[in-house]
Amino acid sequence: MVQTYCAACHSLALVYSQSGNNRFWRDTIDLMRAKHNLGPIAPEREAAIIDYLAKRAVERPTFRRAPLELTLLPESS
Ligand code: HEC
Repeated sequence: MVQTYCAACHSLALVYSQSGNNRFWRDTIDLMRAKHNLGPIAPEREAAIIDYLAKRAVERPTFRRAPLELTLLPESS
């Protein structure tokens, strides 16, 4: 789902290089919408994306690292 909604304009590596809580991701998605023309996302899908990204960040705590090679990322999520 993140693949579908977030990889259209930039690589997923850009998304996955960021870690943050729900608030951070909500703000990020708002920014995508305001500044970068992100199209509409159904609210429940947006909530799922935010939860997923925030959960992922908890599992992989706070420091930032260089983006993974795309070949190292999971097939889909
Ligand atoms: C319609 C195009 C578009 C879509 C769809 C899109 N983005 Fe972006 N996003 C951009 C552009 C343009 C930038 C700025 C790219 C750059 O700086 O190279 C960006 C940058 C970012 C950044 C880096 C922000 C920073 O602090 O530098 C993150 C994180 C991000 N997007 C997350 C997402 C997520 C999560 C989604 C899915 C919900 C998403 N994007 C969907 C266009 C898009």
